[in-house]
Amino acid sequence: MSQAADSTPATARRAGESAGGLTGTAEVPGDKSISHRALILGAQAVGETRITGLLEGEDVLGTARAMRAFGAQLTRIGDGAWTVHGVGVGGLAEPDDVVDCGNAGTGVRLIMGMMATTPISATFTGDASLRSRPMGRILDPLRLFGARAAGRAGGLLPLTLTGAAHPMPVEYTLPMASAQVKSALLAGLNAPGETVVIEPVPTRDHTERMLRGFGAEVTVEALPESSGGGRAIRMIGQPELVPQAIAVPRDPSSAAFPVAAALIAEGSEILVPGIGLNPTRAGFYETLAEMGADLVRESPRQEGGEPVADLRVRFSALNGVEVPPERAPSMIDEYPILAAVAACAEGDTVMRGIGELRVKESDRIAAMAAGLRANGVAVTEEPDGLIVHGRGSVDGRGGVPGGATVATHLDHRIAMAFLVLGLASRNPITVDNRAPIATSFPAFFGVMQGLGADLA
Ligand code: S3P
Repeated sequence: MSQAADSTPATARRAGESAGGLTGTAEVPGDKSISHRALILGAQAVGETRITGLLEGEDVLGTARAMRAFGAQLTRIGDGAWTVHGVGVGGLAEPDDVVDCGNAGTGVRLIMGMMATTPISATFTGDASLRSRPMGRILDPLRLFGARAAGRAGGLLPLTLTGAAHPMPVEYTLPMASAQVKSALLAGLNAPGETVVIEPVPTRDHTERMLRGFGAEVTVEALPESSGGGRAIRMIGQPELVPQAIAVPRDPSSAAFPVAAALIAEGSEILVPGIGLNPTRAGFYETLAEMGADLVRESPRQEGGEPVADLRVRFSALNGVEVPPERAPSMIDEYPILAAVAACAEGDTVMRGIGELRVKESDRIAAMAAGLRANGVAVTEEPDGLIVHGRGSVDGRGGVPGGATVATHLDHRIAMAFLVLGLASRNPITVDNRAPIATSFPAFFGVMQGLGADLA
């Protein structure tokens, strides 16, 4: 079926001073990255892992279905509350059907890592977006462990992976800054001896943190700048994982949408409580501070091994900034919404070193450039960069013209970014398909309407 055939559009209208701005509390869902990992590690620990705050979006529910297919028992006991009875490291069963990971790049890549050192076969597929995304980057290290893969040309899904019967531990240097590829480390769980993954640029470290929580022996060493910097992550294979109680913090990547909306819609003041602010994820919030955002981290605390705070956000007159390229891994999913915020700032916002955005759920550089231009915002697109020429705020007598419909390309973050921009532009903005939003933020419309947003 074509994308247009099953699309449901959505439109956002201005929530500026005349409409009173956005007010209230935005309760965003659990962290997507941590939710996937909690299910995958729980599935390999014998005994009961209890998870609260799990993101019940389509991506994570797909991973839950997959863990059942690999033999784990999962039970939903309440809103976001799940128990997982795992099979033990090396105890995965062979799925009796194709494993469909939907839209979830993280889901499919982590699950392939998980099974690559167990002698079973599984065939993976996904939606049109996932079937166009590169899998070679994960298959290369998995082959070193002894796994075999057969798929479409270019390593695209659908593909069948057969895990190694006699897995070898591996030392692997990541060719790109990708936490998903780093999580190939999960393959090392069932390889005897020490697996070493070297990441030249630090990426989100939830896998390492959680592996330690489950009792695996994991060490992380900062490498000297003289040899290029980065980190070496070492894990001893075949541990007995100990079931955990995991409280999933709320997702900073989902919080980015109400936070951005309050910053650009005149008259707004909102609270976004309980947000995970692991430094490997918090680059967007640093960038907003540099743009002049009135954004305060209240009651900073530790929850479930992750730093958490409540975010208080007020409408702010923003200025464009140059985002340091080395910050990209810590805000890689936030560039679409940053581009929307940048459109409402005075001056240029320069985003470089973001070539990875071209292989996300969509080509996010192209999708943002096209959508912004259609809505009257000038942009300069580069092979691995985007410069947004900001138009300032409506009440500062500038503002984004808006008025156009944006193609979302099965990408939840493109859809949400343009709906947020529509809350601050002169004319409404429509996105061609709201359905993908359910992959990461199923309650997006309710949460935003609860703040007073005009979204339908
Ligand atoms: C994720 C890593 C990122 C990010 C994705 C979630 C993860 O991808 O874009 O949404 O949970 O490991 P890359 O690691 O490929 O950059």
